[in-house]
Amino acid sequence: MGVSVCLASGKDGVGRSTITVNLGIALSSLGVSTVVVDGDIEGASFSILLGVDPDTPSLHDCLACKTTSENAVIEAHGVNALVGGIGIEQLVDVSVNGFSNILKELTERFDIVLVDSPAGLGTEAVTIMNSCQSVILVLTPDINSVTNTLKTLAVAKKLGTTVLGGIINRTGGQYDIPSDKIEDLLRVKIISEIGEEGLVRQSLQEGVPIYAGNPDSSFSKKIMDVANKLIGSG
Ligand SMILES: Nc1ncnc2c1ncn2[C@@H]1O[C@H](COP(=O)(O)OP(=O)(O)O)[C@@H](O)[C@H]1O
Ligand SMILES: [Mg+2]
Repeated sequence: MGVSVCLASGKDGVGRSTITVNLGIALSSLGVSTVVVDGDIEGASFSILLGVDPDTPSLHDCLACKTTSENAVIEAHGVNALVGGIGIEQLVDVSVNGFSNILKELTERFDIVLVDSPAGLGTEAVTIMNSCQSVILVLTPDINSVTNTLKTLAVAKKLGTTVLGGIINRTGGQYDIPSDKIEDLLRVKIISEIGEEGLVRQSLQEGVPIYAGNPDSSFSKKIMDVANKLIGSG
C-alpha cells in the first residue's frame, strides 16, 4: 500500500497547487511511483498547471461515478495526475463523500499519492485531510498565513493526520517573518523555504510545470530537496 500526503493551507495563493504538481514530477523523476490529485474541488487548477485539455476525465467525474480513477489518471510532464474539473457545471451537486474510496484505489496503485487539498476548513478540506495519512502545511511568511495555518494545524491534530512539517513559500521579501520564528509559532518542523521565483509565473503561462521546463531553477532545486526528504534520503 502506498502513502497519502495532502498539502494543505489556511488560505489560497500560497503556492499549494504549484508545489504539489512539481513535487509529484520530482518524485517521479526519482523513480517513485507517484500520482498527484487535484483535491481542490472548487478551485481546481491542475489541468491549467499541466497544460492539458480541460475536458480530461477528472476527480469530479470520479466523485460523480461517471468514470473510475483507473480510467481518469493521466500522465503529463512525467507525472501521473488526476486533475479536477474546472467548469462550474462540474460543481453542481458534487460531493466529496466518495473521496476516501478513490484515495484507497490510488494508494493500491501508487507508492505516493499527493493530494492538493482545498484551502481553509470547509467540509471538503476537512474530509480530504481526514482521508489522508499525513499532511504538509504550505504557507507564506506573513502573519495572515501563519494565523490561518495554526487553525489548519489544530484540525489536522484533532483528526489524527500526521503533520510532516511546513513549507514556507515565496520568501525573500523585506517584511518576511523569519522561518525560525514561524517554526516557534507553529511548533512544526520547516521542511523547506522556497523563494519568490519569476519563472513560476512563466511556467503557469506556458502550461509547463517549472520542474519540467526548468529543472535547474532555484524553485526546482528546493522541490527536489523536499522530494528527497519525503522519501527519507535527504
Ligand atoms: N515561489 C513562487 N514564486 C513566484 N510565484 C509563485 C511561487 N509559488 C507560487 N507562485 C504563484 O502564486 C500563485 C498562486 O499559486 P498556486 O499554486 O495557485 O497557489 P494555491 O494553490 O495555494 O492557491 C500562482 O500565480 C503561482 O504561479
Ligand atoms: Mg491551488
